[in-house]
Amino acid sequence: MSETKDVLILAIESSCDETAASVVKNGREVLSNVIASQIDLHTLYGGVVPEIASRKHIEKINQVIQEALDKAGVMLSDITAIAVTYGPGLVGALLVGVSAAKAISFATGIPLIGVHHIEGHISANFIENKELEPPFICLVASGGHSHLVVVKDYGEYEIVGRTRDDAAGEAFDKVARAIGLGYPGGPKIDKLAKEGNPDAIHFPRAKVGESEYDFSFSGLKSAVLNYLNGCQMKGEDICKADVAASFQKAVIEVLVEHSLHAVKEFGYDKFAIAGGVASNSSLRAAFEEACSRQGVTFYHPSPVYCTDNAAMIGVAGYYEYIKGVRSGYDLNAVPNLKLGER
Ligand code: KG4
Ligand code: ZN
Repeated sequence: MSETKDVLILAIESSCDETAASVVKNGREVLSNVIASQIDLHTLYGGVVPEIASRKHIEKINQVIQEALDKAGVMLSDITAIAVTYGPGLVGALLVGVSAAKAISFATGIPLIGVHHIEGHISANFIENKELEPPFICLVASGGHSHLVVVKDYGEYEIVGRTRDDAAGEAFDKVARAIGLGYPGGPKIDKLAKEGNPDAIHFPRAKVGESEYDFSFSGLKSAVLNYLNGCQMKGEDICKADVAASFQKAVIEVLVEHSLHAVKEFGYDKFAIAGGVASNSSLRAAFEEACSRQGVTFYHPSPVYCTDNAAMIGVAGYYEYIKGVRSGYDLNAVPNLKLGER
């Protein structure tokens, strides 16, 4: 009897401010997940500084890759394919991962696969939910994206809703900065909101013209800024926890409403969330509740697989690998890569 050989993907992710590498076995088993975060460095500047991000990636990348192999207990010669994020993201940051992956592939002959960052975020759901298979609808809410995606099959997507302006995570980061919480704002607002009253201040829930699935968060951000200015001018005290909780409630309500509406209209019974904002505790609770009310099975990755990591790139890379996708040595960083494009 012939034994099927395990497929081991070495995955590399460097699209923003985390240098990450992982080894994933047969698509859904994470053997290692190493993340070198640069957050402390960028906190000094109140956001990610692209030039600093690239330099730090260069310093860390080889070390992080070696650590991922060591922790997985494998050698490069055991690896079936190398998956790397090639977009979207910061061009200088992406280039570091792409160059490292190409160099290893060229030196060893191990096949190379370029992976879309958002496809990675969506695929994070497959790690801990072994039974989850397409089709389903996924809300991807991160620092750069807010997409409602129909996952038709592995690697087959249709975007049915998107933000018209700021991404959800961007709104969290900007509001956090305005109330003096610093970068990154999402986790800080999440924590502070637990001490506040979500009904203290009514912030607007944006409607976006004729598109029922699109989002807009810049109006909400302006409403928070206006509220803060108004309080300052009147000499009134600002309860930061109430602002955080009320803002967070406004974001979550819109995300839940649009997502569940899409799930119903498109007739799916499975719904997943992904991206950094998906690690928000109130958002997870709100979706849990709304999905169970609507008879929809709700899936979400653990927080460590919501924010940027390489394990999710390894999972997406596996499904591309078994479909026969391979990248050439002309693979380049594509900062504004669209989902479903190659
Ligand atoms: O997916 P991610 O790590 O990077 C991108 O691809 O953008 O997402 C980062 C974003 C940041 O805007 C951060 O503030 C937000 O996710 N975020 C959160 C939470 N944790 C991270 N937003 C709300 N609540 C959280 N707990
Ligand atoms: Zn991301």
